[in-house]
Amino acid sequence: MASIEFVKVTKSFDKHDVIKDLDLKIEDGKFTVLVGPSGCGKTTLLRMIAGIDPQTSGKVLINGKDVTKIPPGQRGVAMVFQNYAIYPTMSVRENIEFGLKNNKVPKEERTRLVESISATVGLSEYLDRKPSTLSGGQRQRVALARAMVKQPSVFLMDEPLSNLDAKLRVQMRIELIELHKKLGTTFVYVTHDQVEAMSMADTIVLMNKGLIQQEAPPDVMYRKPNNMFAAEFIGVPPMNMDDLGVEGIKFGFRPESAVLSKEPSGKHFSIRGVIATREMLGSETVYQVKYNNSSYMIKCIEDHFTVDEDVCLEVAANKIFFFEEDGNRIGEEDGRFNNYLEALRRG
Ligand SMILES: Nc1ncnc2c1ncn2[C@@H]1O[C@H](COP(=O)(O)OP(=O)(O)OP(=O)(O)O)[C@@H](O)[C@H]1O
Ligand SMILES: [Mg+2]
Repeated sequence: MASIEFVKVTKSFDKHDVIKDLDLKIEDGKFTVLVGPSGCGKTTLLRMIAGIDPQTSGKVLINGKDVTKIPPGQRGVAMVFQNYAIYPTMSVRENIEFGLKNNKVPKEERTRLVESISATVGLSEYLDRKPSTLSGGQRQRVALARAMVKQPSVFLMDEPLSNLDAKLRVQMRIELIELHKKLGTTFVYVTHDQVEAMSMADTIVLMNKGLIQQEAPPDVMYRKPNNMFAAEFIGVPPMNMDDLGVEGIKFGFRPESAVLSKEPSGKHFSIRGVIATREMLGSETVYQVKYNNSSYMIKCIEDHFTVDEDVCLEVAANKIFFFEEDGNRIGEEDGRFNNYLEALRRG
């Protein structure tokens, strides 16, 4: 097991800073998910931990020890890549055993490790098969097993599920959560999919353009986003945002926080709009409601309305967020919060 720490880390490519002055502590034994849009620096961060592509300046510490001069093979980390790169001509057993043979682990020990780890990831029956005869999910498990036999103190995973179809991804997500529980090892998992981040993480590290926007457990990230970027990145559909019309302030509310009805019930924010679109998704329906020049996405459990119908859209005061012009969220403890709530009162 191991903790990881970045201290004032900068990474530049051709004098362009992709990561700048980054400080981050990743806790020992936790499942940490790095999430953010494409190009924000997630893979770059993982590669610095692995030592594949070291930082330009600053320090990376593993278990409190500066690893700058330690080569990748000796850092006690294993990395699983998006395109899991297993050897097609080797059997599943040979694939998993490969790294151990290279490290001159004796045959008996190799066999014991391969068998116990294959059982952990559910591959025992497939040890003599070639990868080409396996499903995508099974191949992904081979890649995981190959990382696991090294018994690393840190697992780094870079979008390991992105090649799988939606159903298998959900299944593998649950398997990874269970695997983490079983191993108790530090997991650092990269994805650009906020649903993956929300469902698997103990801690989410949300990045944008090389900067950490927020570091928090999933529920905190959802209930108390630091800024507009976090508010709009986490949650589907994203939080509705609109101008308050005062001091450049924006207000927001989540699609599931609004209530649609035929008659108002006296909630704080209450407007009359028209249903512009309706997406019936089975267990829920997403409506787009137009009001003056604004449009809001609303998620309902029930499917009561049709396109072009007039509706009353209401949001309770405790479901409303405010953001400064620079994007930072204004907390309820801020003296201005109640003034903005008054300015928003409609109906
Ligand atoms: N070897 C390199 N040379 C020059 N620029 C690079 C290099 N590697 C990465 N970059 C740049 O650094 C930035 C971050 O890249 P990175 O691969 O870390 O993004 P990412 O968050 O993993 O994105 P994705 O979700 O698309 O995988 C990008 O703008 C990328 O173009
Ligand atoms: Mg990447």
